[in-house]
Amino acid sequence: MKVLVTGAAGFIASKLMYTLKERGDEVVGIDNFNDYYDVRLKEGRCKAFGLEVRKMDLADKEAIDKLFAEEKFDKVVNLAAQAGVRYSITNPYAYLQSNLVGFLNILEACRNFGVKHLVYASSSSVYGMNAKVPYSEDDKVDNPVSLYAATKKSNELMAHSYCKLYGIAMTGLRYFTVYGPWGRPDMAPMLFASAISKGETIKVFNHGDMIRDFTFIDDIVAGTIGCLDHLPEPDANGLRYRVYNIGCSNPVKLMDFISEIEQALGVEAKKEFLPMQPGDVYQTNADTTKLEEEIGYKPVVRLHEGIGKFIEWYKSDLNPLK
Ligand SMILES: NC(=O)c1ccc[n+]([C@@H]2O[C@H](COP(=O)([O-])OP(=O)(O)OC[C@H]3O[C@@H](n4cnc5c(N)ncnc54)[C@H](O)[C@@H]3O)[C@@H](O)[C@H]2O)c1
Repeated sequence: MKVLVTGAAGFIASKLMYTLKERGDEVVGIDNFNDYYDVRLKEGRCKAFGLEVRKMDLADKEAIDKLFAEEKFDKVVNLAAQAGVRYSITNPYAYLQSNLVGFLNILEACRNFGVKHLVYASSSSVYGMNAKVPYSEDDKVDNPVSLYAATKKSNELMAHSYCKLYGIAMTGLRYFTVYGPWGRPDMAPMLFASAISKGETIKVFNHGDMIRDFTFIDDIVAGTIGCLDHLPEPDANGLRYRVYNIGCSNPVKLMDFISEIEQALGVEAKKEFLPMQPGDVYQTNADTTKLEEEIGYKPVVRLHEGIGKFIEWYKSDLNPLK
């Protein structure tokens, strides 16, 4: 099977590409290596996982078409995106380019070059202010509270139209706060580990009253590969179209999460308690029943073990940012 992985120097896609290659798949990875966060981390992942990632931008339609024409992919995993909720407040156009124009280029290339199945990243952020927990795929997600979330929900709609019009199988994955070695430096686990280990004060939003369904990277990769291997059965409308939650189904209080990091580092954090940030949500909590039933997904890494692995990497010489 020949697979394209986009965003291959990124946190999730680098581990995904590595794992696919390990099991013998033929994989091509692309990434534009943008400087939204420290590029040394992206280069470090490629080196550590032995990945050759081609520098290419999703928004460059000509380059994407040429790649698809030459490589003739069976399947595509689109994880490249402008990520982050807070950054979308100051840099809205970056989201338009990568998440909408770029995603359309991928859809068009899948259509024109015979790709059978596209797996793509959505996000738990589509649930916005959803009051009902746990979040289910059947909940209404028409009220995004950030532009980032709006682009992810748009991806699900765009994918649906291409599935209906051109018969391409589509699987969208709503990832819930992923953490682990080689994690993103703009996300809470890395921000906390960095500040706590340097004796700096950590910002604890909503005065610590937040709940997150933290999911370990290896569980996310296993679930994503499970979806890649599983062509969705036709639904009630005859469409091979699915959207799945992919989380840990074990939401934890932010303060407990911080405490695990403190223990693993052996340092107590200095904390500054702040109000809620615009665009943030109080809690995320995934109902993953659908993914369990249809794909056999079962997250296995509990928080204590996952934080241990994350901090072990964080303290090691592999981490270019420590
Ligand atoms: N990490 C999480 O907790 C989480 C949660 C929900 C959704 N997601 C989604 O999962 C996907 C992967 O997330 P991640 O945490 O690995 O993020 P990441 O930022 O580490 O990886 C994304 C990669 O895509 C690349 N990229 C961005 N725009 C590009 C473009 N126009 N062309 C080519 N490459 C481009 C970046 O350079 C980066 O290496 C993203 O779509 C993200 O929105 C992640």
